[in-house]
Amino acid sequence: MADGATEKKLILSGIQPTGTFTLGNYIGAVRNWGPLQDQYRCLYFIADQHAITVKIEPAELRKKTLEAYAQLLACGIDLEKSLVFVQSHVPTHSQLAWVLNCSTQFGELSRMTQFKDKSRKHPDDINAGLFDYPVLMAADILIYNADMVPVGVDQMQHLELARNIANRFNGRYGETFKVPEGYIPPVGAKVMSLQDPTKKMSKSDTNPNAVILILDDKDTIIRKFKRAVTDSDTEIAFREGKDGINNLLTIYSAVTGKSIDDAVKEFEGQGYGTFKLAVGEAVADHLAPVRDEYARLIQDKAYLKECYTKCAGEALKMSYRTLNKVYKKVGFVPTELR
Ligand code: AMP
Ligand code: TRP
Repeated sequence: MADGATEKKLILSGIQPTGTFTLGNYIGAVRNWGPLQDQYRCLYFIADQHAITVKIEPAELRKKTLEAYAQLLACGIDLEKSLVFVQSHVPTHSQLAWVLNCSTQFGELSRMTQFKDKSRKHPDDINAGLFDYPVLMAADILIYNADMVPVGVDQMQHLELARNIANRFNGRYGETFKVPEGYIPPVGAKVMSLQDPTKKMSKSDTNPNAVILILDDKDTIIRKFKRAVTDSDTEIAFREGKDGINNLLTIYSAVTGKSIDDAVKEFEGQGYGTFKLAVGEAVADHLAPVRDEYARLIQDKAYLKECYTKCAGEALKMSYRTLNKVYKKVGFVPTELR
């Protein structure tokens, strides 16, 4: 990456390799990452260390990490402009996380909604990593002094915690970390389940009809939209109480670039069946190039390896600057080993 790029503001975000990306991941997060590359210096990574906070088979994690990496590239992230790496390849994140743990309160971690949700879902495995996950996420962000973190709304509480940790550390040890801002997409910050539109669309949903995966083929996408839960009304309008229709309008608007108002006008007087089919077709057409590019990339393991190795090397170099500064501030005896 050219040196001139260092003046650009820095964007960072991560995604867990817990399965094929959903339309929610795509609209709420990943598809916004590509267009940011021209204006900002961008770092994106696969959060494999976050993924082991919930039980996952080792072989499956390995496979899904590579697949997630290829999906990020297929979604328009350009390695000429951005660094895309795997979290566990850059050990400084977890090194910083330890230090940040000591500036984080038990009470604030106990309030994290995602921790409470996941504890409820996996009562037999409420491990310390699951509890500590937001501190590792804060380290991911603060180690690069990121200016902005594009995420869906579900991650805003974690981002707020990262800001609090940064401020607390700066207050105690002197100005060290930049306090990052969130970046929420204008449309589609929360894409809802197609089967229960009061719940977010999630990779871990057990009902496949609830979730559109970005690698689903056209027929599958259309079939899932045809089955989408709406309401007993007949009007296509965006308003409170019409969660299913609101979600479909949001998705349509996000993939076509049309405003919600224009979408409402376009379907005025039409039935839900026609509308659902149109949304399904728009989504399938929009995702077709992503699917094709993914199919090409996932065949080329040597290329993927070359990319993630080179990017991790650069990220490691960048991150050592912050880690060394932090170690010095907290009073660790310096060593020549880093
Ligand atoms: P995760 O699947 O939890 O690793 O999430 C990766 C990114 O996708 C994060 O920025 C989330 O906020 C975003 N995201 C996940 N699900 C949704 C959804 N249903 N709607 C919008 N954004 C989402
Ligand atoms: N916790 C995020 C999620 O589940 C993924 C993530 C890990 C992340 N580290 C991050 C996102 C740092 C933004 C910045 O979606």
